[in-house]
Amino acid sequence: MVTVPDLSKDNTIPGQPATDRFNVEKLPHHLAIIMDGNGRWAQERNLSRIEGHRAGAESVRIIVRTCRKIGIPILTLYAFSKENWQRPGREVQALWRLLSRYLKSELDEMTKHSIRLNAIGDIQELPKSVNRLLVDTMNKTSANSEMLLNLALSYSGRTEIVRTAQKLAAACVANQLEPAEIDEVMFSQNLYTSDMPDPDLLIRTSGEQRISNFLLWQMAYTELYVSPIYWPDFREAQLMEALADYQRRERRFGKTGEQQAKEV
Ligand code: IPE
Ligand code: IPE
Ligand code: MG
Repeated sequence: MVTVPDLSKDNTIPGQPATDRFNVEKLPHHLAIIMDGNGRWAQERNLSRIEGHRAGAESVRIIVRTCRKIGIPILTLYAFSKENWQRPGREVQALWRLLSRYLKSELDEMTKHSIRLNAIGDIQELPKSVNRLLVDTMNKTSANSEMLLNLALSYSGRTEIVRTAQKLAAACVANQLEPAEIDEVMFSQNLYTSDMPDPDLLIRTSGEQRISNFLLWQMAYTELYVSPIYWPDFREAQLMEALADYQRRERRFGKTGEQQAKEV
């Protein structure tokens, strides 16, 4: 059972000074997370990397539940990059096994709490049975509307951009589109994330300060938060800390601080 503060009554974050108030109005609409550090977490405990991924899957459960509870409408989790295919076969297989287990065990939870599952990435590259289970879970949850859980699987930001360029170029060649008609809105609408706003906040765990080919187009104005905590130890308290940090920031989008203050 996950304990999350009831934010409607008392919005003080546990472990934070009382002056740090948590503002439910200022939650990110779209939160993206690079879940990193499973391997190092395991290594420090003399466990196999696979044990680290298993512990990481528990963090996924808790973070999804917490986001649903506090009311974050879109959560995108980087679960497997296209580059991750280069890892040892045993580790890759273990990751797909864990994903299958997760999808099976969480279907009830997703149904009960109205969470829609979606995948971004080249999911046709996944093992057939995993791909089938994924599509099946997406179909079964497609009418759920309280929260969107996006899993980035076999995902590459550059590949996504190239695909979009190919798609629009093909439409030009077929005389359905003029090159000059292509603008940022049209480009965005032809990405995997066509129906969602860009992430407001990106959290990366394990202290690494890089994007690793994640949501390259979509992160133009995303706030970045790097936590030193390994993903298996990243639970509700750490998420709350990240959200509190986000709420203290001033997003300017290229304008001056004064201009931005007038608009809010
Ligand atoms: C993140 O943890 C999980 C995946 C990339 C699938 P890592 O497996 O990258 O853990 P580290 O970075 O080796 O510690
Ligand atoms: C990024 O983590 C991908 C996922 C979290 C799925 P990596 O561990 O693969 O990234 P690098 O290799 O350290 O950049
Ligand atoms: Mg890593």
